[in-house]
Amino acid sequence: MTTKDKILGKLISNNGKPVSGEKLASELSVSRAAVWKHIKALRIEGYMIDSSTNRGYSLAGAPDLLIPSEIKTGLKTGIIGKGIHYFRETESTNNMAREIAHSVEEGTVVIAESQSGGRGRIGRKWLSPEGGIWLSIILKPKIQPLHAARITLTAGLAVARTIQGFGLEAGIKWPNDILIKGKKVCGILTEMEAELDRIDYCVVGIGIDANVDTELFPGEIRETSTSLKKELGHTVNRNEFVRRLLEEFEKEYLKFQGGDFSSILEEWRNLSETIGENVKVTTGSRTIYGEAIGVDNDGALILETHDGKLEKIVAGTCEHLRKI
Ligand code: BTN
Repeated sequence: MTTKDKILGKLISNNGKPVSGEKLASELSVSRAAVWKHIKALRIEGYMIDSSTNRGYSLAGAPDLLIPSEIKTGLKTGIIGKGIHYFRETESTNNMAREIAHSVEEGTVVIAESQSGGRGRIGRKWLSPEGGIWLSIILKPKIQPLHAARITLTAGLAVARTIQGFGLEAGIKWPNDILIKGKKVCGILTEMEAELDRIDYCVVGIGIDANVDTELFPGEIRETSTSLKKELGHTVNRNEFVRRLLEEFEKEYLKFQGGDFSSILEEWRNLSETIGENVKVTTGSRTIYGEAIGVDNDGALILETHDGKLEKIVAGTCEHLRKI
């Protein structure tokens, strides 16, 4: 963390109350002139910092930006988010994460205000304007590649739980769309580099329409998506949201690493909006209709087709059909 980040952290944790320049300087072992230089730099970044000769500096307002030091202030994790690589704009946080994966610690996060080439599942484009949360988590799990889908389910559960923590009801549409009132608010794209029997790294890309105006999205996406801002009726503090998401994710990931995937799956099933629905599932070449009757131990969807056959679908897109 830089000295500037540390100063910001201290102002944030003081909750708007003043901290003297002298105290900041002595706690961070820098000169008072250096403190003043960092305060000026923070103001240029958009922080409103009041100063008075007798009382010191107090934070009166922050820009609506994702700030690694703000995310990290009070972050209660051991590995997830210990390193955060931040970009005002990047092509895709998943691409960036894949570039650096070999040289960084497990749990490193890549996050951006916007993506110029955001990617969704099955080669789709992912709209990523400012105001959203576009992040990728680098993991190095010691599991067989064939179980990798479990990580996506774990991430989906963590996102849903975080959204619920903000007072909204969130559910999960197989395989990994997070829904609020039936509309998509988040998508997850997990990618990995692996040998036959081990995973080198895995990148979990999470895209959340946080403070985004989904009404401005084109065509069908506009009808089928929503944002946290729209559902809450006000903007969400994205730094706080990311902090809570990283904590939820680590909680579930530690269970996962400890071999307890069954409790994650049980919670996932409880939040599933797909199980029990009549669905249309499209895989590469096939379209299958049926009732979703469950999700197996690796996240594959089990369908009972209209002629009574059971089908197991490992990957595909799923549409909930309207009840007649
Ligand atoms: C989906 O199709 O539902 C998955 C969307 C995943 C989007 C996220 S945003 C952060 C990360 N970077 C990307 O380019 N994609 C993922």
